[in-house]
Amino acid sequence: MNAGAGTAAPAHPGAGSEQIAEAVRRLRAGAVVAFPTETVYGLGADAESAAGVAAIYRIKRRPSGHPLIVHVPDRASAEYWAEIGPRAAALMAAFWPGPLTLVLTRRPGVAALACGNESTVGLRCPSHPVARQLLAAFVASGGHGIAAPSANLFGRVSPTSVAHVFDDLGAETPLVLEGGDSEHGVESTIVDLSRGFPALLRPGSISAAQIEEVLEEPLEGPGAAAPRVAGALAAHYATATALELVAPEALAQRVAQCLERGERIAVWSQRNPGAGAALTWEPAPMEPVAYARRLYATLRRLDAQSVNRILVEEPPAAAQWLAVRDRLGRAQAGAGAR
Ligand code: TXA
Ligand code: MG
Repeated sequence: MNAGAGTAAPAHPGAGSEQIAEAVRRLRAGAVVAFPTETVYGLGADAESAAGVAAIYRIKRRPSGHPLIVHVPDRASAEYWAEIGPRAAALMAAFWPGPLTLVLTRRPGVAALACGNESTVGLRCPSHPVARQLLAAFVASGGHGIAAPSANLFGRVSPTSVAHVFDDLGAETPLVLEGGDSEHGVESTIVDLSRGFPALLRPGSISAAQIEEVLEEPLEGPGAAAPRVAGALAAHYATATALELVAPEALAQRVAQCLERGERIAVWSQRNPGAGAALTWEPAPMEPVAYARRLYATLRRLDAQSVNRILVEEPPAAAQWLAVRDRLGRAQAGAGAR
């Protein structure tokens, strides 16, 4: 694990230039490569390779038609995919490289495949040094962008370490570039600028308030006309074990109820709600940045405990907790379905 909140990118061995060159060779040949970003690990392919994009959908078991985010090293590369209007230019200047994806009107003629045949393209410029090395080398070799969803199986919890990628993809795991534990731990904020007004499609560590401050106008919610966003499905980021969000004041009683019924439970909460062999307790950080960073690793660890139920103490309703609450709500909706 990297150190607490407020530190720079976590320490990691990084990828050697030989490994980056090998990754670029594979991408250019239509194969997939997993790589670290500051949010979660991605499963990448050349966004213009039909074989590469098809391999992503197959390995992830992702339904076709869910568009992929195209990763670029800078604004100049983004121009290949979309025309950059004033709102996009302002947000890129403020937050790129970093955990912000912009949905823009796609230039006609550029690879529709990665974009699920939508008329739009989701563009992201990650800040993780290994992702930046990879993207720079990929573009230098003649590529234009790396399509990459999170490197987990569809519907599951996203990977924030190399071990998580192997856990999910098993024998299908491609070359994985090492990049340590992900710094943010939740996926990028997604803002749609393709509709004439800015809309927040997915909350992330860059907050709606930060976006509004740069745009000097309010952000709409996803709304009824939202394009398909896999992360917007009610049941996503799911654990195999049933997961319940419980209000802090109701936690002690819910724990007692479950234990009385003879259940084995895992609890993620600020304070230890009890003791005994039937209860596994994991202390929850009280601060949203540290909490987000540990969210997926904690859900994966608790999911592996062979308990009947995971109880998660509901984080505060304040705006800084929005991204975390969004992921926990979807985890609850999809949990236990396998
Ligand atoms: O932090 C992240 O964004 C990570 C890392 C790897 O960059 N990627 C990620 O990708 O979370 P994925 O595929 O798991 O989620 C991307 C979301 C999906 O819900 C997808 O539907 C949406 O972005 N998306 C991509 N392109 C879109 C588009 N053109 N219009 C609307 N939504 C789009
Ligand atoms: Mg995902």
